[in-house]
Amino acid sequence: MLNIKDLHVSIEGKKILNGLNLSINKGEVHALMGPNGSGKSTLSYFLSGKDGYEMERGSIDYNGKNLLDLEVDERANEGLFLAFQYPMEIPGVQTSFFLKTAINSKRKHHGLPEIDALEFAKLIKSQAQELDISPDMLRRDLNVNYSGGEKKKQEILQMSLLNPAMSILDETDSGLDIDALRIVSEGVNKLRNKDNSFLVITHYQRLLNYIKPDYVHIIADGKIVKSGDFSLALELEEKGYEEISKTA
Ligand SMILES: Nc1ncnc2c1ncn2[C@@H]1O[C@H](COP(=O)(O)OP(=O)(O)O)[C@@H](O)[C@H]1O
Ligand SMILES: [Mg+2]
Repeated sequence: MLNIKDLHVSIEGKKILNGLNLSINKGEVHALMGPNGSGKSTLSYFLSGKDGYEMERGSIDYNGKNLLDLEVDERANEGLFLAFQYPMEIPGVQTSFFLKTAINSKRKHHGLPEIDALEFAKLIKSQAQELDISPDMLRRDLNVNYSGGEKKKQEILQMSLLNPAMSILDETDSGLDIDALRIVSEGVNKLRNKDNSFLVITHYQRLLNYIKPDYVHIIADGKIVKSGDFSLALELEEKGYEEISKTA
C-alpha cells in the first residue's frame, strides 16, 4: 500500500527527515509516535504534497505508483487521505458543500456520476449522527469557529464519507476531551477493514487505548528508531522517549 524508503526531506535547508523507512500493507494499522519536533507532521505534510519541502533522497511507492508523480488532488482521488494536526479553516465554504465536492471529485476520477442530492443528504445525515455532529455544524463554514474537537470530528466525517484506502491521521487526538476522543476512535475502528490502512500519528499513548494498532514505530530526529507491536507503546509509556531511543 505505502512503502517509504530512505526518505530524506529538508525545509529551507534544514534537514527534517533523515532516512525514514516505513512500510504499511493493506489491512494494517500503524502508529507513529515521537516527541515534539521529531518530524511527524513534516512526514504527513510531505506525503500530502504540500509545497516547500525538498526531497534529497529516497522513494515513496503508493499502490504500485511513485507517489511523487501524483498531483495533490490525484493523491486524494487515489484514496490517500490526510487529517491534519491543525485543520485548515475555509471561510465562505459551507462544510456540507465541501464534503459533497470532495465526494464528487473522487467519483469523477473513478468514472462515476455526481452523487444524487437526496442520497448525499441521507448519507451525511446518518454519518454525522454517528459522530455526534449537529446539522448546524454542517451548515457553518468549514472549520471556521469550530472548537478543536469539532474540527477533528469533521475530519473523521470526511474520512468516513470518502472511505479512503490509506488514511494518515496527524495527532487527531490533540485537543480532544475523552468523549470526543472516543467518538473519533470509534469512527476509525468502524472504518478499518482488511482492504484499507491507517497511519495514526500521536505524541501520547492515550489514543492507542482506543485504536489498537498492529504495529508501533518510534520516530526520533527524522527517522524511525524502533518498531514493534502494541507492547512497544506500553513500554514507551513506562520509560519515556529518551530511554526508548537509547535502547534502540
Ligand atoms: N516550515 C518550517 N520551517 C522551518 N522548520 C520547520 C518547519 N516546519 C517544521 N520545522 C521544523 O521541523 C522539525 C520537525 O517538525 P514537525 O514535523 O512539526 O514535528 P512533530 O510533528 O513531530 O512535532 C522541528 O524542528 C520544526 O521546528
Ligand atoms: Mg506535529
